[in-house]
Amino acid sequence: MAERADHVVDLRSDTVTRPTAQMRAAMADAEVGDDVFRDDPTVNRLESEVAALFGHEAALFTQSGSMANQIAIQLLVQPGDELLAGADAHVVTYELGAAAAIGGVSTRTWPSVGANLEADQIAAMIRPPGFPSVPTRAIAVEQTHNLGGGGVIPLATLRALREVADGAGVALHCDGARIWHAHVADGVALDAYGRLFDTLSVCLSKGLGAPVGSLVVGSADRIARARVLRKRMGGGMRQAGILAAAGLHALHHHVDRLAEDHARARRLAEALEPLGVVDADAVRTNLVPLDLTKAPLDAPALAAACAERGVLIAAMLPRIARLVTHLDVDDQAITRATQVLTTLLRG
Ligand SMILES: Cc1ncc(COP(=O)(O)O)c(C=O)c1O
Repeated sequence: MAERADHVVDLRSDTVTRPTAQMRAAMADAEVGDDVFRDDPTVNRLESEVAALFGHEAALFTQSGSMANQIAIQLLVQPGDELLAGADAHVVTYELGAAAAIGGVSTRTWPSVGANLEADQIAAMIRPPGFPSVPTRAIAVEQTHNLGGGGVIPLATLRALREVADGAGVALHCDGARIWHAHVADGVALDAYGRLFDTLSVCLSKGLGAPVGSLVVGSADRIARARVLRKRMGGGMRQAGILAAAGLHALHHHVDRLAEDHARARRLAEALEPLGVVDADAVRTNLVPLDLTKAPLDAPALAAACAERGVLIAAMLPRIARLVTHLDVDDQAITRATQVLTTLLRG
Protein backbone atom coordinates (compact mmCIF):
# COMPACT_ATOMS: atom_id res chain seq x y z
CA MET A 1 0.00 0.00 0.00
CA ALA A 2 1.66 3.20 -1.17
CA GLU A 3 -0.24 5.70 0.89
CA ARG A 4 -2.69 5.53 3.76
CA ALA A 5 -5.67 7.85 3.63
CA ASP A 6 -6.21 9.66 6.90
CA HIS A 7 -9.64 8.15 7.46
CA VAL A 8 -8.26 4.60 7.33
CA VAL A 9 -7.93 2.83 10.70
CA ASP A 10 -4.64 0.95 10.51
CA LEU A 11 -4.46 -1.87 13.07
CA ARG A 12 -1.99 -4.07 11.18
CA SER A 13 0.98 -3.26 13.38
CA ASP A 14 2.39 -0.70 15.79
CA THR A 15 5.14 -0.09 13.23
CA VAL A 16 2.79 1.93 11.00
CA THR A 17 2.95 5.07 13.17
CA ARG A 18 4.22 8.29 11.63
CA PRO A 19 6.48 10.71 13.49
CA THR A 20 4.57 13.41 15.37
CA ALA A 21 5.26 17.09 14.67
CA GLN A 22 7.26 17.31 17.92
CA MET A 23 9.31 14.27 16.96
CA ARG A 24 10.01 15.73 13.53
CA ALA A 25 11.11 18.98 15.17
CA ALA A 26 13.49 17.05 17.46
CA MET A 27 14.90 15.27 14.37
CA ALA A 28 15.38 18.54 12.50
CA ASP A 29 17.22 20.06 15.46
CA ALA A 30 19.47 17.05 16.13
CA GLU A 31 23.19 17.61 16.52
CA VAL A 32 24.91 15.11 14.24
CA GLY A 33 28.32 13.72 13.29
CA ASP A 34 29.73 10.63 11.60
CA ASP A 35 28.64 7.74 13.79
CA VAL A 36 31.13 5.27 12.30
CA PHE A 37 33.78 7.57 13.85
CA ARG A 38 31.62 7.67 17.02
CA ASP A 39 31.23 11.40 16.35
CA ASP A 40 27.45 11.64 16.50
CA PRO A 41 26.55 13.16 19.89
CA THR A 42 22.86 12.30 19.57
CA VAL A 43 23.52 8.64 18.81
CA ASN A 44 26.02 8.54 21.69
CA ARG A 45 23.40 10.03 24.02
CA LEU A 46 20.73 7.55 22.92
CA GLU A 47 23.10 4.61 23.39
CA SER A 48 24.16 5.65 26.87
CA GLU A 49 20.60 6.49 27.97
CA VAL A 50 19.28 3.13 26.82
CA ALA A 51 22.17 1.22 28.40
CA ALA A 52 21.50 2.96 31.72
CA LEU A 53 17.73 2.36 31.50
CA PHE A 54 18.39 -1.39 31.35
CA GLY A 55 21.18 -1.43 33.95
CA HIS A 56 23.86 -2.37 31.41
CA GLU A 57 27.21 -0.83 30.44
CA ALA A 58 26.59 -0.17 26.78
CA ALA A 59 24.19 -0.21 23.85
CA LEU A 60 24.44 -0.02 20.05
CA PHE A 61 21.96 1.68 17.73
CA THR A 62 20.82 -0.50 14.81
CA GLN A 63 18.53 -0.08 11.85
CA SER A 64 16.04 -2.73 12.94
CA GLY A 65 15.00 -5.15 15.62
CA SER A 66 16.00 -8.04 13.40
CA MET A 67 19.52 -6.66 13.09
CA ALA A 68 19.71 -6.10 16.86
CA ASN A 69 18.55 -9.67 17.54
CA GLN A 70 20.91 -11.20 15.02
CA ILE A 71 23.91 -9.25 16.30
CA ALA A 72 23.09 -10.44 19.83
CA ILE A 73 22.75 -14.04 18.67
CA GLN A 74 26.12 -13.86 16.92
CA LEU A 75 27.63 -12.46 20.12
CA LEU A 76 26.32 -15.33 22.24
CA VAL A 77 26.43 -18.35 19.93
CA GLN A 78 29.36 -19.39 17.75
CA PRO A 79 28.78 -21.00 14.33
CA GLY A 80 27.64 -24.61 14.72
CA ASP A 81 26.49 -24.12 18.32
CA GLU A 82 22.90 -23.90 19.42
CA LEU A 83 20.27 -21.34 20.39
CA LEU A 84 17.05 -22.40 22.15
CA ALA A 85 13.90 -20.38 21.48
CA GLY A 86 10.14 -20.77 21.18
CA ALA A 87 8.82 -22.25 17.93
CA ASP A 88 6.86 -19.04 17.34
CA ALA A 89 9.67 -16.66 18.36
CA HIS A 90 10.37 -13.74 16.06
CA VAL A 91 14.05 -14.73 15.92
CA VAL A 92 13.01 -18.12 14.55
CA THR A 93 9.89 -17.38 12.51
CA TYR A 94 10.22 -13.88 11.08
CA GLU A 95 13.92 -13.20 10.60
CA LEU A 96 14.15 -15.25 7.42
CA GLY A 97 16.57 -17.85 8.73
CA ALA A 98 19.15 -15.18 9.63
CA ALA A 99 20.56 -17.06 12.65
CA ALA A 100 21.53 -19.91 10.33
CA ALA A 101 22.21 -17.91 7.17
CA ILE A 102 24.31 -15.16 8.77
CA GLY A 103 25.46 -16.56 12.11
CA GLY A 104 25.77 -20.26 11.23
CA VAL A 105 23.73 -20.86 14.37
CA SER A 106 21.76 -24.02 14.94
CA THR A 107 18.31 -23.40 16.44
CA ARG A 108 16.21 -25.80 18.52
CA THR A 109 12.74 -24.78 19.62
CA TRP A 110 10.29 -25.50 22.40
CA PRO A 111 6.63 -25.85 21.33
CA SER A 112 4.64 -22.61 20.99
CA VAL A 113 3.53 -21.41 24.40
CA GLY A 114 3.73 -17.66 23.81
CA ALA A 115 4.59 -15.91 27.05
CA ASN A 116 3.57 -18.94 29.18
CA LEU A 117 7.06 -20.30 29.59
CA GLU A 118 8.05 -23.06 32.02
CA ALA A 119 11.68 -22.66 33.09
CA ASP A 120 11.91 -26.41 33.90
CA GLN A 121 10.89 -27.42 30.39
CA ILE A 122 13.52 -25.18 28.89
CA ALA A 123 16.12 -26.46 31.39
CA ALA A 124 15.43 -30.01 30.24
CA MET A 125 16.32 -29.05 26.66
CA ILE A 126 19.81 -27.72 27.41
CA ARG A 127 22.57 -29.90 26.01
CA PRO A 128 25.93 -29.72 27.77
CA PRO A 129 29.11 -29.12 25.80
CA GLY A 130 30.85 -32.28 24.72
CA PHE A 131 31.27 -34.33 21.60
CA PRO A 132 29.18 -35.28 19.64
CA SER A 133 26.06 -33.27 20.52
CA VAL A 134 25.52 -29.64 19.53
CA PRO A 135 26.24 -27.52 22.63
CA THR A 136 23.51 -25.14 23.78
CA ARG A 137 25.02 -21.67 24.24
CA ALA A 138 22.02 -19.38 24.65
CA ILE A 139 18.29 -19.14 25.27
CA ALA A 140 16.17 -16.40 23.65
CA VAL A 141 12.83 -15.21 25.01
CA GLU A 142 10.46 -12.55 23.66
CA GLN A 143 8.97 -9.82 25.86
CA THR A 144 6.18 -9.07 25.06
CA HIS A 145 5.38 -12.04 22.87
CA ASN A 146 4.23 -11.09 19.40
CA LEU A 147 2.63 -14.31 18.15
CA GLY A 148 1.68 -14.99 21.76
CA GLY A 149 -0.83 -12.12 21.54
CA GLY A 150 1.28 -9.53 23.35
CA GLY A 151 1.55 -11.76 26.42
CA VAL A 152 3.91 -10.69 29.21
CA ILE A 153 6.36 -13.19 30.71
CA PRO A 154 6.12 -12.78 34.50
CA LEU A 155 9.24 -11.51 36.27
CA ALA A 156 9.29 -14.65 38.46
CA THR A 157 9.53 -16.88 35.36
CA LEU A 158 12.37 -14.79 33.97
CA ARG A 159 14.21 -15.04 37.31
CA ALA A 160 13.76 -18.82 37.28
CA LEU A 161 15.10 -18.91 33.73
CA ARG A 162 18.13 -16.83 34.77
CA GLU A 163 18.89 -19.43 37.45
CA VAL A 164 18.57 -22.19 34.87
CA ALA A 165 20.94 -20.33 32.52
CA ASP A 166 23.47 -19.69 35.29
CA GLY A 167 23.33 -23.32 36.42
CA ALA A 168 23.98 -24.54 32.88
CA GLY A 169 26.49 -21.83 31.91
CA VAL A 170 24.40 -20.61 28.98
CA ALA A 171 23.54 -17.03 28.05
CA LEU A 172 20.09 -15.43 28.06
CA HIS A 173 18.89 -13.04 25.34
CA CYS A 174 15.69 -11.01 25.38
CA ASP A 175 14.00 -9.99 22.16
CA GLY A 176 12.54 -6.94 23.85
CA ALA A 177 11.04 -5.28 20.78
CA ARG A 178 8.05 -4.42 23.00
CA ILE A 179 9.64 -4.66 26.44
CA TRP A 180 8.25 -1.16 27.11
CA HIS A 181 4.77 -2.62 26.90
CA ALA A 182 5.65 -5.27 29.48
CA HIS A 183 7.14 -2.59 31.75
CA VAL A 184 3.92 -0.55 31.54
CA ALA A 185 1.58 -3.56 31.87
CA ASP A 186 3.31 -5.24 34.83
CA GLY A 187 4.97 -2.20 36.42
CA VAL A 188 8.38 -3.91 36.36
CA ALA A 189 11.32 -1.48 36.10
CA LEU A 190 13.24 -1.71 32.84
CA ASP A 191 16.50 -2.31 34.68
CA ALA A 192 14.90 -5.16 36.65
CA TYR A 193 14.29 -6.84 33.30
CA GLY A 194 17.62 -5.72 31.88
CA ARG A 195 19.77 -7.18 34.65
CA LEU A 196 18.35 -10.66 34.03
CA PHE A 197 19.71 -10.85 30.50
CA ASP A 198 23.16 -11.01 28.95
CA THR A 199 21.88 -9.15 25.90
CA LEU A 200 18.64 -7.45 24.94
CA SER A 201 17.30 -6.00 21.72
CA VAL A 202 14.82 -3.17 22.13
CA CYS A 203 12.88 -1.27 19.45
CA LEU A 204 11.98 2.40 19.20
CA SER A 205 9.76 1.88 16.16
CA LYS A 206 7.13 -0.46 17.63
CA GLY A 207 4.56 1.49 19.54
CA LEU A 208 6.99 4.21 20.62
CA GLY A 209 6.51 5.97 17.31
CA ALA A 210 10.06 6.45 16.02
CA PRO A 211 10.43 5.91 12.27
CA VAL A 212 13.51 3.68 12.55
CA GLY A 213 15.73 2.22 15.21
CA SER A 214 16.52 -0.50 17.69
CA LEU A 215 19.38 -1.11 20.09
CA VAL A 216 21.41 -4.08 21.29
CA VAL A 217 22.13 -3.74 25.00
CA GLY A 218 24.87 -5.57 26.96
CA SER A 219 28.31 -5.37 28.54
CA ALA A 220 30.93 -2.94 27.19
CA ASP A 221 32.96 -5.85 25.76
CA ARG A 222 30.01 -7.38 24.00
CA ILE A 223 28.85 -4.07 22.56
CA ALA A 224 32.36 -3.35 21.25
CA ARG A 225 32.14 -6.66 19.36
CA ALA A 226 28.57 -5.83 18.32
CA ARG A 227 29.88 -2.67 16.64
CA VAL A 228 32.19 -4.80 14.49
CA LEU A 229 29.38 -7.23 13.61
CA ARG A 230 27.06 -4.36 12.67
CA LYS A 231 29.69 -2.81 10.37
CA ARG A 232 30.41 -6.23 8.83
CA MET A 233 26.74 -6.54 7.91
CA GLY A 234 26.79 -3.11 6.30
CA GLY A 235 25.00 -1.54 9.23
CA GLY A 236 27.40 1.32 10.00
CA MET A 237 25.53 4.63 9.88
CA ARG A 238 26.80 8.16 9.40
CA GLN A 239 24.71 11.18 10.54
CA ALA A 240 22.29 8.85 12.31
CA GLY A 241 21.62 11.44 15.02
CA ILE A 242 18.57 12.49 13.01
CA LEU A 243 17.12 9.05 13.72
CA ALA A 244 18.49 8.83 17.27
CA ALA A 245 16.77 12.14 18.08
CA ALA A 246 13.45 10.54 17.13
CA GLY A 247 14.32 7.62 19.41
CA LEU A 248 15.18 9.90 22.34
CA HIS A 249 11.93 11.81 21.84
CA ALA A 250 10.03 8.49 21.78
CA LEU A 251 11.68 7.34 25.00
CA HIS A 252 11.00 10.61 26.80
CA HIS A 253 7.40 11.09 25.62
CA HIS A 254 5.86 7.85 24.39
CA VAL A 255 6.52 5.16 27.00
CA ASP A 256 4.01 5.97 29.75
CA ARG A 257 1.28 6.62 27.19
CA LEU A 258 1.41 2.95 26.13
CA ALA A 259 -1.14 2.43 28.93
CA GLU A 260 -3.65 4.16 26.63
CA ASP A 261 -2.90 1.68 23.82
CA HIS A 262 -3.33 -1.20 26.26
CA ALA A 263 -6.68 0.15 27.44
CA ARG A 264 -7.90 0.56 23.84
CA ALA A 265 -6.78 -2.97 22.94
CA ARG A 266 -8.69 -4.25 25.94
CA ARG A 267 -11.79 -2.27 24.95
CA LEU A 268 -11.63 -3.72 21.44
CA ALA A 269 -11.18 -7.25 22.81
CA GLU A 270 -14.10 -6.86 25.22
CA ALA A 271 -16.34 -5.66 22.39
CA LEU A 272 -15.37 -8.64 20.19
CA GLU A 273 -15.37 -11.29 22.94
CA PRO A 274 -19.10 -12.12 22.58
CA LEU A 275 -18.36 -13.19 18.97
CA GLY A 276 -16.15 -16.00 20.32
CA VAL A 277 -12.94 -14.82 18.64
CA VAL A 278 -10.90 -13.51 21.58
CA ASP A 279 -10.44 -13.94 25.31
CA ALA A 280 -10.40 -10.33 26.53
CA ASP A 281 -8.76 -11.25 29.87
CA ALA A 282 -5.73 -12.56 27.96
CA VAL A 283 -5.20 -9.17 26.28
CA ARG A 284 -2.56 -7.55 28.48
CA THR A 285 -0.88 -5.12 26.10
CA ASN A 286 -1.49 -3.63 22.64
CA LEU A 287 -1.95 -6.79 20.57
CA VAL A 288 -5.36 -8.40 20.08
CA PRO A 289 -5.18 -11.84 18.45
CA LEU A 290 -8.40 -13.06 16.81
CA ASP A 291 -8.96 -16.82 16.68
CA LEU A 292 -11.12 -17.31 13.60
CA THR A 293 -11.39 -21.11 13.82
CA LYS A 294 -15.17 -20.93 14.15
CA ALA A 295 -15.70 -17.60 12.38
CA PRO A 296 -17.54 -17.22 9.05
CA LEU A 297 -14.37 -15.80 7.40
CA ASP A 298 -10.75 -16.92 7.55
CA ALA A 299 -8.00 -14.38 8.28
CA PRO A 300 -7.15 -13.31 4.68
CA ALA A 301 -10.86 -12.99 3.80
CA LEU A 302 -11.57 -11.00 6.96
CA ALA A 303 -8.58 -8.73 6.32
CA ALA A 304 -9.74 -8.11 2.73
CA ALA A 305 -13.32 -7.37 3.80
CA CYS A 306 -12.12 -5.03 6.56
CA ALA A 307 -9.82 -3.21 4.11
CA GLU A 308 -12.76 -2.55 1.78
CA ARG A 309 -14.41 -0.84 4.75
CA GLY A 310 -11.36 1.25 5.67
CA VAL A 311 -10.01 -0.89 8.52
CA LEU A 312 -6.65 -2.59 8.05
CA ILE A 313 -5.84 -5.72 10.07
CA ALA A 314 -3.11 -8.37 9.77
CA ALA A 315 -3.73 -11.98 8.73
CA MET A 316 -1.01 -13.77 10.72
CA LEU A 317 -2.03 -17.39 9.99
CA PRO A 318 -4.92 -18.82 7.94
CA ARG A 319 -7.26 -18.59 10.93
CA ILE A 320 -5.46 -16.07 13.16
CA ALA A 321 -5.74 -12.33 12.61
CA ARG A 322 -4.13 -9.58 14.68
CA LEU A 323 -5.23 -6.11 15.67
CA VAL A 324 -2.67 -3.71 17.12
CA THR A 325 -3.28 -0.42 18.89
CA HIS A 326 -0.70 2.36 18.76
CA LEU A 327 -0.01 6.07 18.79
CA ASP A 328 -2.13 6.77 15.69
CA VAL A 329 -5.24 4.92 16.92
CA ASP A 330 -7.72 6.92 19.00
CA ASP A 331 -11.05 6.06 20.65
CA GLN A 332 -13.01 6.88 17.52
CA ALA A 333 -10.86 4.47 15.50
CA ILE A 334 -11.59 1.72 18.03
CA THR A 335 -15.32 2.36 17.72
CA ARG A 336 -15.07 2.19 13.90
CA ALA A 337 -13.03 -1.00 13.94
CA THR A 338 -15.43 -2.60 16.43
CA GLN A 339 -18.42 -1.81 14.20
CA VAL A 340 -16.77 -3.17 11.05
CA LEU A 341 -15.46 -6.34 12.70
CA THR A 342 -18.73 -7.04 14.49
CA THR A 343 -20.72 -6.76 11.25
CA LEU A 344 -18.36 -9.06 9.37
CA LEU A 345 -17.91 -11.65 12.11
CA ARG A 346 -21.63 -11.97 12.81
CA GLY A 347 -21.82 -13.42 9.28
C1 LIG B 1 8.97 -9.42 18.75
C2 LIG B 1 9.68 -8.79 17.59
N1 LIG B 1 11.01 -8.87 17.53
C3 LIG B 1 11.71 -8.32 16.53
C4 LIG B 1 11.07 -7.64 15.53
C5 LIG B 1 11.89 -7.13 14.37
O1 LIG B 1 11.86 -5.81 14.17
P1 LIG B 1 12.23 -5.15 12.73
O2 LIG B 1 10.99 -5.24 11.92
O3 LIG B 1 12.61 -3.76 13.13
O4 LIG B 1 13.35 -5.92 12.18
C6 LIG B 1 9.67 -7.52 15.54
C7 LIG B 1 8.96 -6.80 14.47
O5 LIG B 1 7.77 -6.54 14.51
C8 LIG B 1 8.96 -8.13 16.60
O6 LIG B 1 7.62 -8.07 16.67
